[in-house]
Amino acid sequence: MKDEKTVRKGSGFNSKIGFILAAAGSAVGLGNIWRFPYLAAKYGGGFFLLIYIIFTLTFGFALMLTETAIGRKTGKSVIGAYKAMDKRFAPLGWLAAFVPAIILPYYCVIGGWVFKYLTVFVMGAGSEAAGDGSFFGSFIGNASQSTLFFVIYIALTAVVVMLGVEKGIEKVSKFMMPVLVVLTIGIAIYTMTLDGAGEGVKYYLLPNFDGFTISKLLKTIAAAVGQLFYSMSLAMGIMITYGSYMRKDDSLESSVRYIEIFDTIIAFLAGLIIVPSVFVFSGGDADKLQAGPSLMFITLPSVFESMAGGQIIGAVFFLLVALAALTSSISLMETVVSIVCEKFKIKRIPCCLIVIVFCLAVGMLSVLGYSVWDTVTIFGYQFLDFFDFISNNIMMPIVAFMTCILISYVVGTKYVEDEVTLGQKRFKSQALFRVMVKYVCPVCMIIILITPFVTNI
Ligand code: PHE
Repeated sequence: MKDEKTVRKGSGFNSKIGFILAAAGSAVGLGNIWRFPYLAAKYGGGFFLLIYIIFTLTFGFALMLTETAIGRKTGKSVIGAYKAMDKRFAPLGWLAAFVPAIILPYYCVIGGWVFKYLTVFVMGAGSEAAGDGSFFGSFIGNASQSTLFFVIYIALTAVVVMLGVEKGIEKVSKFMMPVLVVLTIGIAIYTMTLDGAGEGVKYYLLPNFDGFTISKLLKTIAAAVGQLFYSMSLAMGIMITYGSYMRKDDSLESSVRYIEIFDTIIAFLAGLIIVPSVFVFSGGDADKLQAGPSLMFITLPSVFESMAGGQIIGAVFFLLVALAALTSSISLMETVVSIVCEKFKIKRIPCCLIVIVFCLAVGMLSVLGYSVWDTVTIFGYQFLDFFDFISNNIMMPIVAFMTCILISYVVGTKYVEDEVTLGQKRFKSQALFRVMVKYVCPVCMIIILITPFVTNI
């Protein structure tokens, strides 16, 4: 029965909730827990939150719906999907396919760091990680240690992908996502009870317009849109791939709504955990709050060290981050595997092996970029930062822009609308969807692409 309903014969999600949790698993990741809180702290607290939420409900919704519909309609991996829509857009499929292939290896490197911290806290040695950052520095600077955790992390991701969509991804997501929600809510409640947390909550929730200029407004918009892309796993073929495994009679519109709400709530709660606790710990030091990458691996361990019960909270926190990261890297790997399977027409397991070897080889550049090759840079970036920059700041906005053009002006919005009305009677947000893909999304993409140049002048 199931095979008739899913687009891809023999593989696919077996339930609507399975699809929603797997896609939410992809969306909820390091971006929500580590990137979102520091961006909110950096770009004016409540103001950033407001812009982010408005964008998610309008623009993020339209793009996610578009990608999922493309996937379900074509039933193909990202390369095949763009080609099926319009032959001239086949190169766009390739560009979109490169994005997860670039992100997957370095995401697994960071995933390895998370697992290292998880083991350190579980073994009760969290205090070693606290302090000035020398623990982190010597860990990533130690090639064999960081390779070990990188390999462990890839192995965990690969096992799930090898098991397949229904038996691997769907099952694991149905278990991990509820656990993740419970852990997040639990730690958020705990941090709210810390002495002085109220001030931190204010810092997080109230808009801060100090020194606000047009340039800062542009940067805030670009940061919110960029974060939204990354967080909702857009413009990298993931939602096309997951959409292709979705059942035809499930409602696309409500599924996408649930996924974006899920993603936003977890990001919001992560902010409620991190901003107030760092605020209390640092006495409101803005530099610490906006520290970016070092926040999770350097500042937070010290924060846990200073809390009553911090060892346990730290262990639970890194478990939560590990779960969030795993479900995301699973979706990245699945997307790359689906491309390889379709291109070479070979079975899942050999495809997975090819992708694992690729991920190991490319990921090692990022691993070694902090140790033996730490003097090597590409255009001034370390390997990991370089991969992050070209995928997020350049390739993803181009893919999203071109996808909007393709849907709006080449195949027509009806392409998506027809697919939406397969699983439901009426497309409730049709007008919103049209305005977004035709006008708002392309303009926002251009803003993202030019902001780094304009604001640097
Ligand atoms: N959406 C994930 C996050 O918020 C990140 C991610 C990026 C996942 C790319 C898959 C692909 O962390």
